[in-house]
Amino acid sequence: MTVVIDPAFDPVPSLSREVAVSVSDDAEGAGAVAVFVLAEGELPAAVPPGIDREALAAAGFSGKSGQTLVVPGSPLTVLVGTGKGLSTVPQLRDAVASFTRAAREISHLAVDLSEVVAGGGISAELAAQAATEGAVLARYRYDALKSEPKTVQLDRLNLVLGGEAADAADAAEIGVERGLILARTASLARDLGNTPPRHLNAVKFAQIIEQLAPQFGLEVEVFDRQQLMALGCGGLLGVNAGSTEEPRMVKIRYTPQGATDETAHLALIGKGIMYDSGGISLKPSNAMHAAMKLDMMGAAAVFASMTSLRELGATTAVTGWLMCTDNMPSGSATKLGDVLTIRGGTTVEVKNTDAEGRLVMADGLVLATEESRRPDAIVDIATLTGAAMMALGTRTAAMLANNDSVAEQLQAAADLTDENTWRMPLDHRYRDQLKSEVADLSNIGGQYAGAILAGLFLNEFVDGLPWGHLDIAGTMQAESDDLWRSTGSTGFGARLLAEFATAFEAPATGDDES
Ligand code: BES
Ligand code: MN
Ligand code: ZN
Repeated sequence: MTVVIDPAFDPVPSLSREVAVSVSDDAEGAGAVAVFVLAEGELPAAVPPGIDREALAAAGFSGKSGQTLVVPGSPLTVLVGTGKGLSTVPQLRDAVASFTRAAREISHLAVDLSEVVAGGGISAELAAQAATEGAVLARYRYDALKSEPKTVQLDRLNLVLGGEAADAADAAEIGVERGLILARTASLARDLGNTPPRHLNAVKFAQIIEQLAPQFGLEVEVFDRQQLMALGCGGLLGVNAGSTEEPRMVKIRYTPQGATDETAHLALIGKGIMYDSGGISLKPSNAMHAAMKLDMMGAAAVFASMTSLRELGATTAVTGWLMCTDNMPSGSATKLGDVLTIRGGTTVEVKNTDAEGRLVMADGLVLATEESRRPDAIVDIATLTGAAMMALGTRTAAMLANNDSVAEQLQAAADLTDENTWRMPLDHRYRDQLKSEVADLSNIGGQYAGAILAGLFLNEFVDGLPWGHLDIAGTMQAESDDLWRSTGSTGFGARLLAEFATAFEAPATGDDES
């Protein structure tokens, strides 16, 4: 390929970035200190002397949640509005993120968690975890391709636990460790998403995973075009047909220590469209489509989440399937009316080459069901439909599931990580829209309920196993910095899947509805 890419280019810069987070009883050495301020009542003692509510109001600071006010000094005091108080983990993560953004020039930050923890609403462990995540993720910025990166890195974070909260220091240390693992996990997914499509094609992505896997205790198997033909992965190959670059399927395995036949087994399938041009159903050209390099965020979330499993002590065996190719138009591209044969023999008429995600996912789902140790549940994650984004916007992912336990466990992880999901009905009455005159299925349905139709399509390939599906089309990207989400790829799903897999319990059999 006649393009210039620096051979030293690093697609995962976040992995070599270290933040030292410590728990102590003072903010010694920090360049900026956060002070949480309620919208009403007495100001905390840490507010610099001479500043009262009236002075704050004159500066436009009322203590409403999300507001910040930087008071000059050494260290800087950053007042962070907390409205009616910090009573939930997401509120605390948000508040620390607001602080981190307000103190953007400072590399050593301190946050006093004493009151939050003493108040009893949030455990020391979760408080420390959320604060760590909030700070590290808010300071994330993708500058791997900037000649002169301007971002001041976060080097140190002191979490202060004083007074009666000091006893909780040990618990907080555990939270810090989990927070660092999860922030790294999300940052890794962000890096992979933000990397331009030529810098990260399917072949390169697979290589990077092979390189990184051993250090996280993961085994990897990579399947190239020949091997995918032998497996009959007609969905992935059909989407790849227009490309000059090879597809890859990456199978990643995490086996917990001391695993036995009784160990729960979870399969995670990720959509890895390295760039979605739409194929011959070409997307109209528009700057927004630079975001289609993020069409691999499902695969990135699966891989990134799996890098945390050993460190988080997950006791479930997890198999990841990343379905990777770009979706390009060309003389060899799949045509409308072509019929693809998915692994396992189901035939699909392609009526729109831009509905490519479900085609690559179908092969992965079928392979997951065929494993000798059948998964207790399958969860897939995909930037699948504009319809999910239309329905739920950029903050909430669509969830579909054929099993209540899987849905509830996903929702619990969503609540904890503040990677929100909302369950939509897997309404089988729409299933008829996926009929084809010539094949078993069509890859599109009618005009409405696009996210549900995509879910119904995927449901055809899970062989009745407990299954959940996350459509992250809307949540994969942030158009501007927003609390702990930074411009560009959000890494949505990486933390969610890590928490989900770590807490996973096999659904009781007979629980599923499909
Ligand atoms: N990758 C897109 C979905 C998408 C859209 C992700 C916007 C992120 C932001 C997907 O492959 C796609 O093109 N879906 C089509 C499906 C349709 C043709 C049935 C869509 O949503 O328009
Ligand atoms: Mn598409
Ligand atoms: Zn796509």
